[in-house]
Amino acid sequence: MDKLLIRGGRRLSGEVIIGGAKNAALPLMAATILASGTSSLTNIPDLRDIRTMIEMLITLGAEVSYDGCRLTIDSGGLVSREAPYELVKTMRASVLTLGPLVGRFGTAKVSLPGGCAIGARPINLHLMGLEKMGAKITLSEGYVVAEAERLKGAVIFFDIVTVTGTENLMMAAALADGVTRLENAAREPEVKDLADALNLMGAKIKGAGESVIEIEGVEKLSPIVDYSIIPDRIETGTFIAMAGITGGEVLIKNYQAEHISPIVEKLLETGIEISEESGGLRVKGPKTLRPANLETMPYPGFPTDMQAQFMALMCVAKGTSVIRETIFENRFMHVAELRRLGADIDEKGNSATVKGVKTLTGAPLMATDLRASASLVVAALAAHGETVIDRIYHLDRGYERIEDKISRLGADVTRIKE
Ligand code: EPZ
Repeated sequence: MDKLLIRGGRRLSGEVIIGGAKNAALPLMAATILASGTSSLTNIPDLRDIRTMIEMLITLGAEVSYDGCRLTIDSGGLVSREAPYELVKTMRASVLTLGPLVGRFGTAKVSLPGGCAIGARPINLHLMGLEKMGAKITLSEGYVVAEAERLKGAVIFFDIVTVTGTENLMMAAALADGVTRLENAAREPEVKDLADALNLMGAKIKGAGESVIEIEGVEKLSPIVDYSIIPDRIETGTFIAMAGITGGEVLIKNYQAEHISPIVEKLLETGIEISEESGGLRVKGPKTLRPANLETMPYPGFPTDMQAQFMALMCVAKGTSVIRETIFENRFMHVAELRRLGADIDEKGNSATVKGVKTLTGAPLMATDLRASASLVVAALAAHGETVIDRIYHLDRGYERIEDKISRLGADVTRIKE
């Protein structure tokens, strides 16, 4: 497994270009199942998860070509309705094929995603919604089998805000008979990006980005051509944290301002200077970081996918910060690793108290999940001495060539290929 060797203590400076959003690309790739013909998506980041979803679509019978940015998918010849365990177990977002398959073909057989490092992450709300729309759901040998003559419009209330649950049911409802109303829907920018693309394919979706979404089913959808997906707000936040913790000055390009306001508001509290310029977002790290408390919330609150990176920052703030993780039940896997660098963190249930220390010291670390590994990179950039982060395939799931991007900003980082 590849490792990252980071010699910390250098200030980052220069420009960085943010890539397309992984969590916008994945549902959009699944949405191409809904229309027979050739769709094309651009600004698609070259990530492990994207490659896994490409494999999934090919397994279903699609023809896919990808040049590292532009993705072309011909779903005219889909022959299978089954998302196999071998693929779903490596990427739970494969469950996003469920709604489109049932919506277009009236049948789907999708492996139940297994557990995940950050939590149980059940899909009961996805299945509840499909049942309300008339699908017969059976579970057998670790697979969900969903069948329906044709899905019917329904009113679906989510008692927990679920991003992919909202996306799955929005896609299923696009071809249903009648109107579907999703209540307490996820408001994430990636949900809105999916709805915008579906509407360009002929869907009739209103309210995406708000907590009530109405979808009037249509008979057929057409492929989407040259749809450019939104930039990645979590990659943007991660680079703000890197500039902040190293006391550097970085200009971030190709970000979407309204998507990052919850992140910017919180990071300004820590003393990081963040200002919009004509050419991009200028970020300046302070001499010393101020502590700040945090509670993760569904959008437009502070995103759970930035919690670990924020904690890394607070490890060297001048004071104590309390961080509460309200979305996932086990999203503190980075705490034990940060402690190995000398961080002072006391974890109780879903809250962690971080007492800032003067300096962190490099050490061998192990990545456990995507955003935890990003937080280890953030911390290692500030730590004195050498840090080697193992199992960085977790990082490769969500960050495209991160070592190239941060070394171009002046960091001393090398990928050690195993
Ligand atoms: C999406 O996961 C993202 N993934 C996650 O990003 C992100 O952390 C998460 O939303 C929250 O913002 C993609 O978009 C591909 P949820 P998702 O359903 O949809 C519970 C990353 O780092 N729940 O919004 O799977 C669930 O257990 C990844 O890029 C149910 O109980 O998350 C969790 O506690 C990690 N039943 C909460 O809801 C359900 O049927 C929110 O989960 C569905 C969810």
